Amino acid sequence: MDYESNSWIRDGVYYYPQFVGGLMLTAALLGLSSSYFGGIGLFSLPYIRSDLGIFHKKKCQKKRIRVFMDGCFDLMHYGHANALRQAKALGDELVVGVISDEEIIANKGPPVLSIEERLALVSGLKWVDQVIVNVPYAITEKFMDTLFNEHKIDYIVHGDDPCYLPDGTDAYALAKEAGRYKQIKRTEGVSSTDIVGRILSSINDNKACEDHSDTILCGDPSKGSQPKGARISQFLPTSRRIVQFSNGKGPGPNASVVYIDGAFDLFHAGHVEILKSARQLGDFLLVGIHSDQTVSSCRGSNYPIMHLHERSLSVLACRYVDEVIIGAPWEITADMITTFNISLVVHGTVAESNPLLVGKNDQYAVPKSMGIFRMLESPKSITTTSVAQRIIANHEAYMKRNAKKAESEKKYYAEKTHVSGD
Ligand SMILES: *[C@@H]1O[C@H](CO)[C@@H](O)[C@H](O)[C@H]1NC(C)=O
Ligand SMILES: *[C@@H]1O[C@H](CO)[C@@H](O)[C@H](O)[C@H]1NC(C)=O
Repeated sequence: MDYESNSWIRDGVYYYPQFVGGLMLTAALLGLSSSYFGGIGLFSLPYIRSDLGIFHKKKCQKKRIRVFMDGCFDLMHYGHANALRQAKALGDELVVGVISDEEIIANKGPPVLSIEERLALVSGLKWVDQVIVNVPYAITEKFMDTLFNEHKIDYIVHGDDPCYLPDGTDAYALAKEAGRYKQIKRTEGVSSTDIVGRILSSINDNKACEDHSDTILCGDPSKGSQPKGARISQFLPTSRRIVQFSNGKGPGPNASVVYIDGAFDLFHAGHVEILKSARQLGDFLLVGIHSDQTVSSCRGSNYPIMHLHERSLSVLACRYVDEVIIGAPWEITADMITTFNISLVVHGTVAESNPLLVGKNDQYAVPKSMGIFRMLESPKSITTTSVAQRIIANHEAYMKRNAKKAESEKKYYAEKTHVSGD
C-alpha cells in the first residue's frame, strides 16, 4: 500500500501524508465517539480536518489536553485497550502512534500482524481520536519535538513496565526530563506472551487428540471436558472493568437495533470490519458473544482461546459496538428478538469453520422466517484460526524477542532493588 502518494480516505479515516522526522505519515481518525454516529448514519460522510476544527471551536473554549501513547499493538488484546482507555482519561484527546513494521523488526523481531491490521485494530478502539502511522520505536528528541510542536501533544503516556532501547537506555528518558511524561498501570491478568502460550497449548492439545483419534473426548463438552483456553486465563472479570468499557446507553426511541453474534475469539481486524459493516445497517449494534461452552461445542475443546469475559471486553472496546450480551444463546429465539427489539440479524460470509456443528439446528431459523436475516459480506478474510496459525509460524521469533524483553526487565528490577537496598 502506498501511503505516500496522495491523501486518501478509507474506512471513515482520513489519511493525509505528512513529512515528519523521516518518512512518517499521519492518519487522523476524526470519528468522534461511537455515540456520535447514533441515529444519523453519518458513516458515509468523509471526516475532513475542517470538521474537527468546527468541533473544537464549538466545544472548547479551554485548551484541550492532548495525550500521546505509542506501541506495536501486535496481537492486540483488552490489556492494550485498557491502557489506551486510561491514557485517554489523562487528557481530552488521545493520539496513538503505531510503530512501523520495519522498526519492530529492527528492535524486537517480526510482528505477527501487518501494519494495516494493527492500524485497523487501534483505529477501531472507541477511546482513540487520532492515529499516527509508522512512528519510530524510540522517542528521539526530533520525534518528540514533532509530537509537541506539530501534533500539539501535551503528554506522552506509557505503562509502568520498563521499556528499553537495544542500547539499554530508557525509551522515555527524554519525555521524563521534559516533564511531559505520565504513567499508567499495566492491566493485570493478560499479556501477549500469555496469549501465545494459550495458542500453543491449544495446538498441542489438538495434536494429542488427533493422536488418540478420540473426537468425543476432545469435542463434546457434554462429555465432561472443559474449555481449555479459558482455563489457562488469569483474568478476573470485575463489574467495574465492564462498566469502564461500556457506553452505558441503551438504544434511543425509534432506534433500529442490529444484532450480530459469534465467538469473537482473538479479536482481529476482520472482526472490526464486520462490526463496522453491521453498525452501518442500523442505529444501535447489539453483539451476542457465545459462551465458552457454546464455542467449544462447535470448534472443539481447545477453543475458545480467550474466555467469555475477555472476549466481551475486546468487543466492547470497539467503537462500532453499543452493547453486548455476555454469553448469548446459540439459537436466536423470537423472545430475544422481542426483548431487545431487534430489527435485523446479520452474519458474516467469512466465518470460522465449526467442525462439530454438523447436524445442529440452524441458529438463524427464527430471524430467517421473520424475514429479518441478512448475510453480510465480510470485508476481510482473516479468521481466528488464520491469526493463530501466523502466531505459531512466528512463534520462535516471538519467543526470542520476549526472552530478550524479560531479560531487560529482570535487569531493570535487579538494579532497582539494588539501588533501593542501599
Ligand atoms: C418516533 O416515531 C414516531 C412515529 O413515527 C414519531 O412520532 C416520533 O416523533 C419519533 N420519535 C423520535 C424521538 O424520533
Ligand atoms: C423497535 O424498533 C423499531 C425500528 O426497527 C422502532 O421503530 C421502534 O420504535 C422500536 N420500539 C421500541 C419500543 O423501542
